[in-house]
Amino acid sequence: MPVTIKTETDIAHMRVACKFASEVLDFIEPHIRTGISTGELDRMINDYMVNVQGTVSATLGYQPPGYPPYPKSCCISLNDVICHGVPDDDKFLKDGDILNIDITVITPAGYFGDTSRMFIVGEGSIAAKRLCAVTYECMWLGIAQVKEGATLGDIGAAISAHANANGMSVVREYCGHGIGKVFHEEPQVLHYGVKGTGLKLKAGMIFTIEPMINAGKRDLRTMSDGWTVKTKDRSLSAQWEHTILVTPTGYEVLSLSDGYPPLPDFIKTTKC
Ligand code: MF3
Ligand code: CO
Ligand code: CO
Repeated sequence: MPVTIKTETDIAHMRVACKFASEVLDFIEPHIRTGISTGELDRMINDYMVNVQGTVSATLGYQPPGYPPYPKSCCISLNDVICHGVPDDDKFLKDGDILNIDITVITPAGYFGDTSRMFIVGEGSIAAKRLCAVTYECMWLGIAQVKEGATLGDIGAAISAHANANGMSVVREYCGHGIGKVFHEEPQVLHYGVKGTGLKLKAGMIFTIEPMINAGKRDLRTMSDGWTVKTKDRSLSAQWEHTILVTPTGYEVLSLSDGYPPLPDFIKTTKC
């Protein structure tokens, strides 16, 4: 399957879908505190999608080839979990935890919006805060590369250069992806690479940029639930994700909402 170029109608629908996904994170943020379980957060998220937004979770029952059906409405990845952390009624947040909440909604029109953020419970260690901040910068440095004529390698190179300069490592087994009326479609957006190589970007492409950055080594292991992915060395891992539209002159970040955290200093605009 070639990479699809979205129509104006598709783009309008994707703006709506991605804003819904971001608004789920705005909704859940004040509930993230010591003592709440990740299972409880997942239930609140599902209720909000279904009863407030009129969206549905894209992850509930999702089953790519070789995987068991995903049992929950979002992914909540705590501390050394890299991605696909499965919400659990017996997993309670404690002071100093870092967590990624990854939300993918499907709108009634059938479009997917995908975004994730890091949260810190309480104050957090200096190392944890630094990992979350560097990973946030990595995502935005990748986004800043996006424009017609740039390449996927430009994105990956910008992300990995910043992670490595900070002594952190980039996970290679998972990547960003095209998205639209399908959850995961081409292209694969690697978070490492060589400038000037790979697919040339064209206006109308929509894909995610979602770097997973480890404080330690990049190696990982998958747990027996078939989903949860952890760092092999038990170091902390962080991830941020946006869904991006390629425009003739740059990019439009689709997964923003009123509660989105401040942009890094080097980002002037979310649409150019
Ligand atoms: N939202 C994830 C992504 O960014 C995919 C999660 S699939 C799940 O692509 F089944 F683990 F939820
Ligand atoms: Co996601
Ligand atoms: Co994604």
